[in-house]
Amino acid sequence: MMLAGCSGDRSILDPAGPAARDVAWLWWAMLSGFGLVFVAVVVAWLAAFRPRAHVERSPAEERRFSLRWILGGGIVLPGVSILALLVFGVPTGQRMLPVTLPGETPPQVIEVVGHQWWWEIRYPGEQGDVVTANHLVMPAGEPVEFHVTSADVIHAFWVPRLGGKIDMLPGRTNRIRLEADEPGVFGAQCAEFCGVQHTHMHLHVEALPREEYEVWLDARRSPLPEDEAHAQARQDFIQHCAGCHRVAGLSDGERGPDLSDIGSRATLGAGVMAMEEGAIARWLATHQSLKPGNRMPSHDDLEDETLERLGAWLENLTP
Ligand code: CUA
Repeated sequence: MMLAGCSGDRSILDPAGPAARDVAWLWWAMLSGFGLVFVAVVVAWLAAFRPRAHVERSPAEERRFSLRWILGGGIVLPGVSILALLVFGVPTGQRMLPVTLPGETPPQVIEVVGHQWWWEIRYPGEQGDVVTANHLVMPAGEPVEFHVTSADVIHAFWVPRLGGKIDMLPGRTNRIRLEADEPGVFGAQCAEFCGVQHTHMHLHVEALPREEYEVWLDARRSPLPEDEAHAQARQDFIQHCAGCHRVAGLSDGERGPDLSDIGSRATLGAGVMAMEEGAIARWLATHQSLKPGNRMPSHDDLEDETLERLGAWLENLTP
């Protein structure tokens, strides 16, 4: 089981940033420390079976003998172990603290809101927020401050290869700083049981070089171009989807994920299925069996033709 955690996009043993390296180091230190404790316990246990000559002790000597073991084994030894853990553990979280020292530039802020069962990502800006869902893009090589909260129940934001995790609580904003050494793609997962589809609450995290990040963000600030080829699909969208979903320049629904750049996402349903040709139509037709209990009403009242038209347009919808 431990070896299974050594690699992969959600491994704490394969750190890709300073905070995650601290966590991985602490993990190895704890494994070694507790390995030693385990060996010592086994040796003491085996030693107890060793035949020994009977020693005659007075009741007072017997009490002193027992007291020594209780004090040593029951208080001093655990005390030392816990103190060592404290000394190793306290500095570990420090890099993730949202503290800007005087003279330092405050880092980029990205807001993450947990929903049952998807992620809302907001990039605050002077001309309004850029909003995406289930796909977080961040600049690489610099600390980024995540302000996390929840719209319903308690979730937890965790990007194992970058560090964390931190609880997302309704009515409260928690802050954590993470940094990716290099551009790359990292898996993130809701790490607090939040309902039947907790496991289908995957977040795709992508770190880009600063310039590419700016280009990515600017594209999402510009209005989407007119799209005559998909006029009917856009009409269908306004009729069936716009009450819950936003598409920049077309609708302002806020109940479900913002779909303005759905075509650039890696997965559908927060990790339920890969985004590929025909995936959106399939998702719309069967999402309640693929992800039972999700908040989107079933769309089995719509014609296949309408679903396919909507899918074909949405799959390519990207700024
Ligand atoms: Cu959200 Cu578990």
